[in-house]
Amino acid sequence: MFNYRKFEEDQVEFVTVASIDELVNGERMIFEIGDLPVALFNLGGQYYAIADLCSHDDGPVAEGELEGLEIVCPRHGARFNLETGEALTLPAVVDIPTYPVRVVGNEIQIGIPITED
Ligand code: FES
Repeated sequence: MFNYRKFEEDQVEFVTVASIDELVNGERMIFEIGDLPVALFNLGGQYYAIADLCSHDDGPVAEGELEGLEIVCPRHGARFNLETGEALTLPAVVDIPTYPVRVVGNEIQIGIPITED
């Protein structure tokens, strides 16, 4: 339900977060866009962006171990799919947001959903 990767480009606002040189294969970056904690991963040249917010206890999740496309929360071990945000194991039962990522020139951009206030 939070898989914003499926959003159309006009439903998100793309924000430049890094250059491609700053995030090499196998690395991750954690930062905030506005008030939103976000983590960006480069796995084999594919980029994945998730909210750095575990749905179990609202703690940070992105510093956990990676196993393939799964991130393991360092606090209580819940697993999430980096591509879909799906909560794969207890104690998490709610998915986490995932965001579209695109590369424009040398820039990595993350698409944040446009909210209507
Ligand atoms: S805070 Fe992530 S599993 Fe508990």
